[in-house]
Amino acid sequence: MDAQLNTPSDTDTVITELMVPAYANFGGKIHGGYLLSMMDKVAYACATKFAGNYCVTVAVDGVEFLQPVDVGDLVSMQARVNYTGDSSLVVGIRVIAENFQEKFVKHTNTSYFTMVARDEAGNAARVPGLRLTDTEDLRRYSEVLMRKKLKAWYRDSMQKQRDDFDSVIQAASLADENCVVDIPGLGAG
Ligand SMILES: CC(C)(COP(=O)(O)OP(=O)(O)OC[C@H]1O[C@@H](n2cnc3c(N)ncnc32)[C@H](O)[C@@H]1OP(=O)(O)O)[C@@H](O)C(=O)NCCC(=O)NCCS
Repeated sequence: MDAQLNTPSDTDTVITELMVPAYANFGGKIHGGYLLSMMDKVAYACATKFAGNYCVTVAVDGVEFLQPVDVGDLVSMQARVNYTGDSSLVVGIRVIAENFQEKFVKHTNTSYFTMVARDEAGNAARVPGLRLTDTEDLRRYSEVLMRKKLKAWYRDSMQKQRDDFDSVIQAASLADENCVVDIPGLGAG
């Protein structure tokens, strides 16, 4: 084992900010886009500090806002490198919202940002490896590999769906959907 390598917990990076009314949407809750912007910032800081090179965001997985964040909540974005490839790495981000008045802390979502390191000439730069020292590190690293496999399967399946697209069959398959096919020669139109 290379004792020089960092463990995932060595990469921990946190951004905390109080949610003020300027970040709210018309429904009075915090804009999802504002939270995404905070997530992108912490992913950048975590990845770039670890890689020692400028990192760009390539892909974002697992963004689901299942619980609203309110004005007055103290939001923390807890980021950690979960996976290292050749020039890419994956930062897991746990979003926590703390409400002082109602005295509770909620975990609103966990998302995964894939970042790629670039050198000064803009070419892909190798990232250091990770030293996995507990089963949680191992689980997170393995889950990234599983998500990569599932995404490859999803991409191939979507390509097959496009290649096999037949407008008559597809129009007929939408009978139970909340739409009307209004194309001359197809469906009810
Ligand atoms: C993503 C980007 C760096 C890939 O460049 P590229 O020269 O085609 O790179 P490669 O195909 O050699 O892939 C480089 C790494 O990115 C990873 N990668 C590429 N596309 C990916 C995708 N869609 N999802 C996840 N990882 C991806 C590869 O797996 C590879 O990882 P590895 O080196 O650890 O094996 C390039 O497309 C880019 O710069 N995109 C814009 C990024 C940006 O500006 N983001 C800001 C938001 S707008």
